Amino acid sequence: MSHAAFPYEPYALHGDALREAILRYASNPLYLDNEEWENSDNPYRRQLRPQVLRHLDFDRTPGRDQVLEYPSLAAHRLLTSIYEADLVFLPQSGLSGKWEDFTGYYSPTNRALGEAVRPALERFAFGFLDQEVEVSGKWTKESFASYVESLDPYGRAEASLSEKAILGSCDRERAARMWLIQFAPDFLSEASPMIRNVLGHYGAPQSEWFKIIIDEYGYGVHETKHSRLFEDTLTSAGLQTDIHRYWQYYLVSSLMMNNYFHYLGKNHELFFRYVGALFYTEATLVDFCRRAASLLTEVFGDRADVRYFTEHVHIDQHHGRMAMDKLILPLIDACGEEIIPEIVRGIEEYRVVQEIADQDFAAQISWMDRQPEYRKLHAPVWDAIRSGRITPPVADIVEPYGELSNTHSHEGDELCHIVSGTMKFVSGFDSYEILEAGQGIVIERNRLHGAIIESEECVYQIHSVGDYRACLS
Ligand SMILES: [Fe+2]
Ligand SMILES: [Fe+2]
Ligand SMILES: [Fe+2]
Repeated sequence: MSHAAFPYEPYALHGDALREAILRYASNPLYLDNEEWENSDNPYRRQLRPQVLRHLDFDRTPGRDQVLEYPSLAAHRLLTSIYEADLVFLPQSGLSGKWEDFTGYYSPTNRALGEAVRPALERFAFGFLDQEVEVSGKWTKESFASYVESLDPYGRAEASLSEKAILGSCDRERAARMWLIQFAPDFLSEASPMIRNVLGHYGAPQSEWFKIIIDEYGYGVHETKHSRLFEDTLTSAGLQTDIHRYWQYYLVSSLMMNNYFHYLGKNHELFFRYVGALFYTEATLVDFCRRAASLLTEVFGDRADVRYFTEHVHIDQHHGRMAMDKLILPLIDACGEEIIPEIVRGIEEYRVVQEIADQDFAAQISWMDRQPEYRKLHAPVWDAIRSGRITPPVADIVEPYGELSNTHSHEGDELCHIVSGTMKFVSGFDSYEILEAGQGIVIERNRLHGAIIESEECVYQIHSVGDYRACLS
């Protein structure tokens, strides 16, 4: 059995054909920019910034050092939209006025166009894992058992970078809300990716997996369905619960985490990787949820409804063991030790994705917290440009009142300089600076941001400085 190489290579679209197919998919009006920061009870609207997609090259495999760049954000937004056409979402307030969006999102055209580009986008989005994870050598049940033991998945881990960032933030509630928003794509449709794996016929492990799903669905009691519990967590933190309301605030790595499970679940040649990733996520969720519950209680006090997390401390000890004893080990017995490298690969890949997400979120909180500093950096960088000491490429932009630059990021640092008018510069959920004529801000590479014009007109410049620190000397 070969475990190397990305499985889709021969079948994926390439070059111009790929670019055109992506543009066709994203030409659905559902994917146009929003005039508001949040979607409003409309699960079908997902801002894909189609106007930018024509400039992006998805016909390559970015390395790990590039997976936070804008093309990856664009790819993960696309993939989320494509995968979720398999999921049923209805607006909380009914379909009145949204029937066209409903049928447009679930239309054969939208589905077929999405499926056509999915393999290439998956190669783009997850191909780097081939380089990151090496699972070679001969594996046996014994070596697998000692590998799993060395992972200590049920052990107490120290607080993640993200958790430290929240507790150390100058606005802990805002940071915690930004954090909860990152989980919404996953937790509000919890277990949907894994349901893809209980279709078919493969013996006793199939029924065991089904039991896990029944738990996630609260045994059919809606009030105890895990996604329902998470809605209460969101509400208690002052957030709303409609699907993808906060689409523009998702970080690339948060979408990557969620898409990873859809990617494994949608492509059954990766079934055994899913089994590995399932075990690891269920097992490590025990300690994670324990820490999350106490973190939210520390930040929000008794207001925080943390039942979502306390429920998982209990149930996921169970799920981790079920994944090992009732899924993994019986599958190895039934299919042979050749499947072990795939199981290990699922565990290791998920660990890489998790690490990327943790670093990305912590960096975003730092970016939000340090907005006043980035604002002050405008002066010396602008000085270097005005004096002609540096001559980076510049874009001159004029925008009318209310124009909203939907959230995005850049591959290098940029200086935003306001010539006239007023801009509200947004760096995360509930995080913004008001910039007036003569002022500006340094925009750090790969950091999510957007802007809205608050004067009748705003004239501003974007200087692509590359690395702002090089402009300071
Ligand atoms: Fe759950
Ligand atoms: Fe679980
Ligand atoms: Fe920008």
